[in-house]
Amino acid sequence: MSVERPSSLLRARRRLLVAACAAVGAPALAGAPPVLLRFSHVVAPDTPKGQMALHFQALVHQRGGGRIRVELHPDSQLWGDDDEMEALRLGAVEMLAPSLSKFGMAGVPEFEVFDLPYLFADLSQVRRVTQGAVGRGLLERLARQQMRGLGFLDNGFKQMSARRALRTPADYRGLRVRVQASHVLGEQMRALGAQPVVLPFGETQRALASGVVDAAENPLSNFLTQGLAVLQPHLTLTQHGYLGYAVVTHPRFWASLSRADRALVEEALAEALAHGNRLAEALDRQALATLRQTPGLQLHALGAAEREALRRHLRPVRDGFGRSVGAGLLRDVQRAIQTG
Ligand code: LMR
Repeated sequence: MSVERPSSLLRARRRLLVAACAAVGAPALAGAPPVLLRFSHVVAPDTPKGQMALHFQALVHQRGGGRIRVELHPDSQLWGDDDEMEALRLGAVEMLAPSLSKFGMAGVPEFEVFDLPYLFADLSQVRRVTQGAVGRGLLERLARQQMRGLGFLDNGFKQMSARRALRTPADYRGLRVRVQASHVLGEQMRALGAQPVVLPFGETQRALASGVVDAAENPLSNFLTQGLAVLQPHLTLTQHGYLGYAVVTHPRFWASLSRADRALVEEALAEALAHGNRLAEALDRQALATLRQTPGLQLHALGAAEREALRRHLRPVRDGFGRSVGAGLLRDVQRAIQTG
């Protein structure tokens, strides 16, 4: 199911794509041209990803003496979920940071392991996976789809919002819930008796406002910065799944950089990712404090028995992933969570 996008925006995006196709085949300018690195993402600047991107831009500008220009395009202003990976392939953007959930449909279903409900207890467990051998292996798999994975970034754990409290599995029955384009997330909603509706992030607010969907799952910084509190007066603190990102570029762009520029970009990004990862928990806490003070919004914490009932209902999703994508990968991830 999809929501209509304004046709002028679509036309502008198509023009950019056509121009990009022409540019890919164009001969290089004589001399050493300045480097333009367009970094597109779909969230607000005041989120872990938005802050990471700003930090990256500042470091590159500082260290590159202005020769390498990083252009930031937040909030789906340039590309959205449905066209950003194509834009990367065509050379219409040089860097993206899609959520890990979005790589499955792009041909790397192993990334959906991160979507499994209640797989991680906290961010330190996530980092044992993303910052170790399993994470490196996953980034390498992106080469299959003409992407070079440069690193992982956390946002946080997702909470459920709706026009009613979602305390028990029965509360989900019949709800149309916006999800990212991930088989695991679709299965997760079906396991609860809800109907998953795949929509780009940039269209979620409108779809909630118009009633196309009834509910959504988001980490708190996204819920807050998208202004969803006025549309979804009940926020249930389910903490049921993780949301994080992989920063990617195109191998062609990466190879076009001089060795020195590549090192500069790589180092700046590593520092920016560390900065974003440090910020993630603080922004989550700040968002929670702000949301607690938001008039008209009711927050619901789950008790241990309620959480356990949800976890039990969602357990088959993990088994299904093991059968379809790989029990071996799931074992590696679980081992990394246990042992680091
Ligand atoms: C979503 O689509 O809900 C998220 O992936 C948005 C984001 O980039 O945090």
